[in-house]
Amino acid sequence: MKTIAMSLQKGGVGKTSLAVSLAAELASLAGATLLIDADPQGSASAWIGQESLNYELADVLFERATFAEAVLKTEAPGLFLLPTAGLGGDLKAFAESQAKDDPFCMRRLIKDVAAQGYAYTVIDLSPGWGAIERATVLAVDEVLTPVMGDSFALDGLQIFADNLKTLRRRMETDKPKYNKVILNAIDGRIKQHGEVLRAIKDNAGETLKIYEVPVDPAFRMAQRKHLTLQALNTVKADTRAAVTAITADVK
Ligand SMILES: Nc1ncnc2c1ncn2[C@@H]1O[C@H](COP(=O)(O)OP(=O)(O)OP(=O)(O)O)[C@@H](O)[C@H]1O
Ligand SMILES: [Mg+2]
Repeated sequence: MKTIAMSLQKGGVGKTSLAVSLAAELASLAGATLLIDADPQGSASAWIGQESLNYELADVLFERATFAEAVLKTEAPGLFLLPTAGLGGDLKAFAESQAKDDPFCMRRLIKDVAAQGYAYTVIDLSPGWGAIERATVLAVDEVLTPVMGDSFALDGLQIFADNLKTLRRRMETDKPKYNKVILNAIDGRIKQHGEVLRAIKDNAGETLKIYEVPVDPAFRMAQRKHLTLQALNTVKADTRAAVTAITADVK
């Protein structure tokens, strides 16, 4: 099983949109794929999950439920969800209590998931850099950073790179792999987007590959209709091509 996390320490850059879309694409191409909603906001779960939950990710982490009890089937073929209840959920409580002293909590969970025969696990994270985010990045094979084309993009990538460097040093590891940046919601009419894209390319050097996702109302529409992007027929060809390219490269 391969595990991939979406992470950037800024809100609203498309982490959830791209995590759900990547997971659905992997599920349709490669078989059983699990999306773990590890953001206390629960946005991915509100998108493709069920309205009422018996158990959530936090219950598994607190060992109040097993993974098998908490995992949900979704409408998308091959896609499963380990959900997080938004308001009123317990993930924040876990993050602020046990997770702090348990940097391998997500690594143990992923081991359990791998034993269930999933081909891929994709993890959606909050914009924070707390105990859950660190434990997740430490547990995955690869991390992807989405950014939007505003003035924060370069700083955002630098902050992430610094966080990753500190985590690797403290935990004495060179994992996870990190070589993909997704420049999301690019609008060709906005001059700054072109400038930011050029600046990111200049900064990336040989090590980072950059994917360009256009501004596309299909993301918001899919979320509103509780469908994956793949289930809509109004998605831009360039959006589909970008999701296909990212998926092919993480596979
Ligand atoms: N390529 C895009 N084109 C247009 N809108 C987009 C695009 N990507 C994401 N959005 C919209 O931008 C908003 C923020 O996206 P999303 O929730 O995926 O970001 P996020 O990084 O997960 O946010 P948070 O940090 O709060 O978890 C959503 O309304 C989403 O529909
Ligand atoms: Mg999100």
